[in-house]
Amino acid sequence: MAKILVCVAWPYASGPRHLGHAVSTFIPADIFARYHRMKRDEVLMVGGSDMHGTPVTVRADEEGVPPNVIAERYHALHLKNIEQLGVRYDLYWNTADPHHKAWVQEIFLALKEKGHVYEAVMVSPFCTTDQRFLPDRYVEGTCPHCGFPRARGDQCENCGNLLDPFELKDPKCKIHGTTPIPKETKHFFFRLSAFETPLTKWAAKDKEHWRHHVLTFMRSWLREGLKDRPITRDLDWGIEVPVPGYETKRIYVWFEAVMGYLTATREWYRRRNQPDGWKDFWHDPEARHYYFVGKDNIVFHTIIWPAILLGYDAKLDLPYDVTATQYLNFSGEKMSAGRGKGVWLSDLLERFDPDQLRYYGVATMPETKDTDFEWEDFAQRNNSELLAVYGNFVHRAMTFADKNFDHAVPPADFLDAADKKMIRAIEQEWNKVGQNLEYVHLKDAMKEAIQLARLGNQYFDQKAPWELVKKDRVACGTVLHVALRVSRSLAIIMAPFLPFSSSRLWQALGYDTDVHSQTWEGALEDVPAGQALRVGKPLFTKIDLSEAKETSADRLDLRVAQIADVQELPNADNLYVLQVDIGGERRQIVAGIRKNYPKDQLRGRKIVVLVNLEPAKLRGIESRGMLLAGEDKADVGLVRPPDAAPAGSQVLGVRGAPILAFSEFQKYKLQVGPDGTVLFLSPEGEARTTLAVDGTPLKVDKGMKEGTWVH
Ligand code: MF3
Ligand code: ZN
Repeated sequence: MAKILVCVAWPYASGPRHLGHAVSTFIPADIFARYHRMKRDEVLMVGGSDMHGTPVTVRADEEGVPPNVIAERYHALHLKNIEQLGVRYDLYWNTADPHHKAWVQEIFLALKEKGHVYEAVMVSPFCTTDQRFLPDRYVEGTCPHCGFPRARGDQCENCGNLLDPFELKDPKCKIHGTTPIPKETKHFFFRLSAFETPLTKWAAKDKEHWRHHVLTFMRSWLREGLKDRPITRDLDWGIEVPVPGYETKRIYVWFEAVMGYLTATREWYRRRNQPDGWKDFWHDPEARHYYFVGKDNIVFHTIIWPAILLGYDAKLDLPYDVTATQYLNFSGEKMSAGRGKGVWLSDLLERFDPDQLRYYGVATMPETKDTDFEWEDFAQRNNSELLAVYGNFVHRAMTFADKNFDHAVPPADFLDAADKKMIRAIEQEWNKVGQNLEYVHLKDAMKEAIQLARLGNQYFDQKAPWELVKKDRVACGTVLHVALRVSRSLAIIMAPFLPFSSSRLWQALGYDTDVHSQTWEGALEDVPAGQALRVGKPLFTKIDLSEAKETSADRLDLRVAQIADVQELPNADNLYVLQVDIGGERRQIVAGIRKNYPKDQLRGRKIVVLVNLEPAKLRGIESRGMLLAGEDKADVGLVRPPDAAPAGSQVLGVRGAPILAFSEFQKYKLQVGPDGTVLFLSPEGEARTTLAVDGTPLKVDKGMKEGTWVH
């Protein structure tokens, strides 16, 4: 029996998560943990919400509420989404818990005691407008490594490199858009440099099972040499630094969040009154720790966390594997919670069966390279694989037996060569699924599981029981028996991947037990003859592509509007509050175009506004609609209606269309076309309409190039 600690990256409680996040962290972790539980290994799966740091405070500032309101709101949402997805943690915790805080402070002080944490003066970006130091995400600029224009002061989310704010080209205060000045301040540093040698040794040893891109990333970091890192921040949201004089500073969110794997294990045992129990998992050299994280987390889990572990207590286990994924893109762009792009989990979970999301999530899992979420692909793979191959096979077998063999599993008295071959295929596929799962090759594992259903279909077609039933009832019963045996195996083999449909199938096959308490080996057992079936609806429903996408222009209400008034929004350097006339109605909208348009260019001007967008609050100010503009790396260009068009003229869609959630609107594609016109594209990317009023096309400002996105 192996000891498996399943460590899942802690999602920030700073906003809803997109499908990409689930696909790189909790879905694979859940599959892996479920598999090992079925193998009767000792499994503990821990994680929780990452409650601190600037992602949370940035959101809180935008909404004008305290950070804890944001953190608690999204912690609750994450918890709900995780449950809906059927992801079963042993402990889904959060970093605002007093026990986590106390243990983090304990580790911090222990590291300080050993000299791994020390105090030093550093130069930090200081915003002269606000008279304060700017932590991490409050500074943005161009990445010196890859040229990504919106890299943050702590890390470039495009290439994953860690950054100092002053390494950024042209760093800017996120709030005021001004250039911060360098100013000296005192912080605690982690002596990462001291771990270069031990980590290099560790990185060279027993890593054959690691993913290539993870190893490459880790080793290139080590080759470049490790620098000490500041681990406190000028911020009031986070874990207090347990040292006098640091009242206005907090422990850096990353430094404490990674400790969550250890503190959550402690918490799990504490709740069972075994305060030292966590050592079972952390002091046992045979225990295997798997970390399920996204690409931008690699350095924290392969360098920084192992260094903390080495520094804190040499007996602690280092990661056995860091199974980082690459990115799941959405129509070619990185899904980013921070920038509000992507396919929101909560939205998807309202519209689809969680197993359909899990299936597609695994089928497109970016295990070794970036992949794309495409609606067509989502519908197609669900309909033609999950439903047509797996769902169809088990449904055919069950309904046929149900109708012709008295609602029960018929006996199999004599097996011919084809029957035996089918039964052997169960074991072969089961083996392949298991082998792939051992190495966390989830995509391949699930493919083999589907392959078993495919073989089942072939067997069924070849035996043609609908013919056989007329000629040889006994032989027909045998075919059904074997097909139901394959179905039974599929229920178990699919259980880690598709927990809900596996339960449904298990029940339909007549079992009263829980499929999730079966053993992995149990997949090879036979189904008992005579067991009463409980055939119900097919396992899966078809996904209707047009419904899935819901991107018909009829859902939009885009109108010409005239700007009546413009005010700056205090403390929000890029925001204006606009009063606009949308034809017989005044609306207030908040728009982030202050860096791109001076006030006097806006008053009286005609623009295009999406008026049925769900109202939102930005920095506590209500916004009821969104203006349409093209945006490239350098600038924002408003969409200009023809001069003669009166306010209220319909540009696209239907007057009075129902309220549209922002996540819905993101499914629409608008782009600059030839000569600065604006095209409404189909989800496939084909031009459907040129936006126009009374036959006169609209133009986008500032000579934006063809192909620029408009939103
Ligand atoms: N909150 C981070 C993110 O969403 C992940 C933290 S993982 C941890 O990218 F290990 F540091 F907790
Ligand atoms: Zn970069």
